[in-house]
Amino acid sequence: MLEPQTRPIPHGHGVHPFPHRHLTGIFGLQPWEITFLLDEAEQWIALNRASAAKHDNRLAGLTLINAFFENSTRTLLSFEIAGKRLGADVVNMAVAQSSVSKGETLIDTAVTLNAMRADVIVIRHDASGAVQLIADKVDCPVLNAGDGRHEHPTQALLDALTIRRRKGQIAGLKIAICGDVLHSRVARSNILALTALAADVRVIAPPTLMPAAIERMGVTPFTDFDAGLDGADVVMMLRLQRERMAGGFVPSPREYHALYGLTPERLARAAPDAIVMHPGPMNRGVEIDSVVADDVKRSAITEQVEMGVAVRMACLDVLTRAQRGVEGWA
Ligand code: CP
Repeated sequence: MLEPQTRPIPHGHGVHPFPHRHLTGIFGLQPWEITFLLDEAEQWIALNRASAAKHDNRLAGLTLINAFFENSTRTLLSFEIAGKRLGADVVNMAVAQSSVSKGETLIDTAVTLNAMRADVIVIRHDASGAVQLIADKVDCPVLNAGDGRHEHPTQALLDALTIRRRKGQIAGLKIAICGDVLHSRVARSNILALTALAADVRVIAPPTLMPAAIERMGVTPFTDFDAGLDGADVVMMLRLQRERMAGGFVPSPREYHALYGLTPERLARAAPDAIVMHPGPMNRGVEIDSVVADDVKRSAITEQVEMGVAVRMACLDVLTRAQRGVEGWA
């Protein structure tokens, strides 16, 4: 899986600042490549905040296909908005009405999208590795919008951008990633991105939801929520992913909340200026209390959504530069 992601695109005597054809994960990206994408995203924030004329036509004439085999609100809509703001022709594949329901394989679906001359494809799928499978079969850049428990790279990028803007830096920050780490592609991509950017990352989870040997990813595991929160600069809560749980990972949502729900009392253990994050969708009253999620001084949750559009515009722009013949990238 590493090889196609990390193959450099020749560029004069060196490589591009983002020498990858696809964005299938944070795994395999160098710290400066992550920083490059964050820097690129910054330019789109002002355009997105304009009251009118939110358009830049650099992707005019290109066809973006969003193929989401799992439900989504934030990721699907922000990729659609990002593509349209950049002038692309955006097509959202209606998976429920597609021939996937008749048993068409993922590879046949990929070959079909390729034959329609898509210029960039965004995929969400419930199987880890499905996005790489499609990337290996098509002629255009593929972006991972979340595959199983594996990765959700644009979520990690928008989270890193949110943290960098709120805190001014990422290196050295104490960042606690809390909750259902076992089932979370968001956690995995964030661990890869934030450790690459030199944050001090802790993961906090019940023993049943803590991946084995997680410390090998360069993080410090805690099963005691209060101990893990001590002095944290960023508290990133994760959704309890009951749809990915076949058995009894937690006794009940109420007991989970009692031990691992973020309440104002628990948040008081973090740094006084700690920010609270959540990728959404939230289970209010389970992993996070509404009074915390809606605290405008502490919560960065809506800012995360805003940064999602900017990050996805940056990724679509950067990954299509070679095919658009942008000087120095073609
Ligand atoms: N954070 C996230 O992936 O949200 P959606 O499932 O709504 O896209």
